[in-house]
Amino acid sequence: MEQHHLTENKLKLYFAASFFALIFFSTSVNCQNNLQKDTTASPVQITRNKIDTEIENILSQLTLEQKVALCHAQSKFSTKGVEQLGIPEIWMSDGPHGVRAEIKWNSWDYVGWTDDSVTAFPALTCLAATFNPELAGEYGFSVGEEARYRKKDILLGPGVNIYRTPMNGRNFEYMGEDPFLASKLVVPFIKGIQKNGVAACVKHFALNNQEKWRNHINVELSERALREIYLPAFKAAVVEGHAWSIMGAYNKIRGNYSCQNDYLLNKILKGDWNFDGVVVSDWGAVHSTNAAAAGLDIEMGTKNYYDNYYLANPFLAAIKKGEIDEKVLDEKVKRILRLMLRTTMSPHRTLGRKNNPEHHNVARKVATDGIVLLKNRDNFFPIKDDKNLTIAVIGENATKPMTVGGGSSELKAQFEISPLQGLKERYKNATILYSMGYSSGKGAWDRALPPKLNQDSLSTEAVNLAGKADMVLFIGGLNKNHFQDSEGGDRIQYGLPFGQAELLNRLSKVNKNIGLVLISGNAVEMPWIDKVKGIMQTWYLGSMAGAAIADVVSGDVNPSGKLPFSFPVKLEDNAAISFGSSSYPGDSINVYYKEDILVGYRWFDTKKIKPLFAFGHGLSYTTFEVSNAKTDKRNYSRNDQIKITCDVKNKENIEGAEVIQVYIGKQDSKVNRPIKELKGFKKVKFENAEEKQVTITVDVAQLAYFDETISNWHLEEGKYTVFIGTASDKIIKKIDINIK
Ligand code: GLC
Repeated sequence: MEQHHLTENKLKLYFAASFFALIFFSTSVNCQNNLQKDTTASPVQITRNKIDTEIENILSQLTLEQKVALCHAQSKFSTKGVEQLGIPEIWMSDGPHGVRAEIKWNSWDYVGWTDDSVTAFPALTCLAATFNPELAGEYGFSVGEEARYRKKDILLGPGVNIYRTPMNGRNFEYMGEDPFLASKLVVPFIKGIQKNGVAACVKHFALNNQEKWRNHINVELSERALREIYLPAFKAAVVEGHAWSIMGAYNKIRGNYSCQNDYLLNKILKGDWNFDGVVVSDWGAVHSTNAAAAGLDIEMGTKNYYDNYYLANPFLAAIKKGEIDEKVLDEKVKRILRLMLRTTMSPHRTLGRKNNPEHHNVARKVATDGIVLLKNRDNFFPIKDDKNLTIAVIGENATKPMTVGGGSSELKAQFEISPLQGLKERYKNATILYSMGYSSGKGAWDRALPPKLNQDSLSTEAVNLAGKADMVLFIGGLNKNHFQDSEGGDRIQYGLPFGQAELLNRLSKVNKNIGLVLISGNAVEMPWIDKVKGIMQTWYLGSMAGAAIADVVSGDVNPSGKLPFSFPVKLEDNAAISFGSSSYPGDSINVYYKEDILVGYRWFDTKKIKPLFAFGHGLSYTTFEVSNAKTDKRNYSRNDQIKITCDVKNKENIEGAEVIQVYIGKQDSKVNRPIKELKGFKKVKFENAEEKQVTITVDVAQLAYFDETISNWHLEEGKYTVFIGTASDKIIKKIDINIK
């Protein structure tokens, strides 16, 4: 403890700390020596005492230098511990879909270990499409177990930035356009990870909704849009999910970088939401020592020597000069010690495991539960395994590895079953032919094209093959290349890339039986949609991709996924895009969220624009009949719960699942509000032809909007409409209710 800074408050704190230390010494089982005097003392013994007592005890033993060292990186993905006290380092790793391969101490290069391969789980957009919170919990637990086994204390995920446009390169890592859906899935996911004694690090806080100019773009938006659309999933992650860490984003918000944004970090996160964890910066997202007072706790990835980080020597110097009060440092250290005691210093945490069958099954289940059947004319899907059937599988995505690439979420999967592999293993009788059809060209990891083939010959070969087959299964979409679904850049076109649209048109001339398996994390334009009978949205599915796709294509599993974001017919139908370049991608300095709260289906409803496929849309191989939808009352008060019930009947004798969705909208509001907003959903599963009653409850308080005149939530009295349906554009019943 620096003697010459023993101000009045410090003295109080010092005596308080000593008091605690005294209590600790007198009560703890292994009385530890006073480490500062006795240099041969044993390392810090973790007692069963409350974590806070332990924190005070450790804090009182740290020097100023040791405390500052905890607040910034010592390597690419780790921060110092306190070796003299036996306090361990903190090790972090990407990412949301699995534990990234080991990276070198001082660079972005991979070390090349042989024991760091993992299970690659489906991208979080697929998890969102499951509308299945229980499954989100299993996913979080499994990926957390793999992180634990890889000895990682913080897993840098999940991401919950809202899907504002179909151009954002990182949408595949997030959970769609609706804050309620993302909130309901992120909470169990985080709890699952943290059950392993590994901290989740929910990201990127906040408003990282585009990759273009991500390092500096300044987001300007209304307080309502911030509170009602962009923050709720982060609030749920903190308040309900109890996330132990959160990652500050690269971009600015109203002129201040996210990692040094006092309003965002101190007022909202640590104040309103009472966050007791650690704010970790994105890599290279810190630009000043002001970040310390503005609420940042750990600085990572700055392009500099570690001692010269903003929260390193400059921070130390500012404290010594009295420019920053040491209390600011102590507050960070307490949070960091709390995270350590929950993770790397926790005596309770499990051992973890990876690449085990249970994780593979969870990966497969999330994949099959998240695949969305978008279109199925003439019941093209499922495809029976018939010995007289010849299927021409066409498309580079049938064989292209998708667990690599895409940026920091890329993985070294122990294995990845390709769609073609999965289909060949599943279809023992039908004849499966394959032709690449198109190529995305050489990417960093792509195999070089066979010299004899080029785009024309690839296309011609595929068309010839299609002409000889009974049906075509086109496996295309986007991929993890730059300007596709990848970090660091946004998409440069809304339509399918690499000549796929032209190829589909050519194929449709020689074969009318075309089904499309789209592998992507974003909506795409479909001018050719009338030329294909079936369309399946299958996301980036990870290690079990091919098995899961074969499960659903063959009908072994009945698809039950629902779209977590809207597919606009054309790009200009998207809210943000419709306001022009200042609204997206901005003018390279500022971006203005002019659509305000009308994101996604909120926009399509209000502007009466028909999307190609709506939020919440997803077909099944069976038919469900929803009847008897009702609310328990017509008049509610603010502390009530609205109880919505309905009967759901599975009309065919096969397994399946339907997602009942409840949207609620205020009639004649005195402010601009969407027609309806998702306020409840439930996935109901059927083993055979049976009928089930579904109950969904909505807290009336959830119907409030953020009133900028009082800077708080306000529940309007009066008439509301409850919309009950199976998609945002498939409303089966509307019920008017009154809130008094
Ligand atoms: C990257 C990403 C972030 C990732 C971090 C470490 O720039 O924005 O999501 O966790 O740096 O790789």
